[in-house]
Amino acid sequence: MGKILTVFSLRKGSGKTTLAINIAKIFANRGRTLLIDLDPIGDSSKYFGIKAKYSIDSILNKEKDFPEVVHKCTTHNLFIIPSTPRLIKWENFIGNLNGLSSVLEYLSGKFENIIIDTSFQKSKLLELAVKSSHKIIVPLKVEQSSIYFLNKIISTLKTYNSDFMILPTMYKDENIEIYRVIIKDYSNLLIKLGSNGIKIDDGISSSFGFQQLAISQFFIS
Ligand SMILES: Nc1ncnc2c1ncn2[C@@H]1O[C@H](COP(=O)(O)OP(=O)(O)O)[C@@H](O)[C@H]1O
Ligand SMILES: [Mg+2]
Repeated sequence: MGKILTVFSLRKGSGKTTLAINIAKIFANRGRTLLIDLDPIGDSSKYFGIKAKYSIDSILNKEKDFPEVVHKCTTHNLFIIPSTPRLIKWENFIGNLNGLSSVLEYLSGKFENIIIDTSFQKSKLLELAVKSSHKIIVPLKVEQSSIYFLNKIISTLKTYNSDFMILPTMYKDENIEIYRVIIKDYSNLLIKLGSNGIKIDDGISSSFGFQQLAISQFFIS
């Protein structure tokens, strides 16, 4: 059975989509990989240029079968179930959404790796995706509000009983004190970095390199 990994954060713009796409590409080098875009905004679908009529909701509605919702990306071995704005309706759906767990279970028999990109909005849909996953990865933007979001994220993920790890991203020198607090107080939850993993420079481009390094370490371990 394939492994399901959900990228989770309750903060908008924390780097979920960027991380999900990067992980999906890394995994695709190793085997058949499926990226599920569960965010109604659909940034990962846009990234791969997939604008499709049918999405995972068509499966949940039992309107369509898998071949019609799973699309091939230009990256070898990488497939995507794109998002649709209709997912907003599913986010607010209060009935039984357990169909999602069965769909994910079925898909994990067809793909070696499944990565789920999510919305920052708390919803039943998000909760089920998390609960159906083997592992959760949380990109944490290093900034003034990091600790506030981190505590909120941790308490939510604990209620979901999930196995999660935190990946600090988008570091800037002006936030060094916050980064130090994160390393000191949350070290057991952080993705462990090698000796050069904590070498962080200022500026966006270098922080992106920092994230890339962390991803590869995450999967080696
Ligand atoms: N590690 C990173 N370093 C620098 N910029 C990043 C990094 N991760 C994401 N970004 C940028 O931050 C913005 C938000 O990222 P995105 O992945 O769309 O976040 P989310 O999906 O959580 O809303 C985008 O402009 C993206 O290019
Ligand atoms: Mg996103």
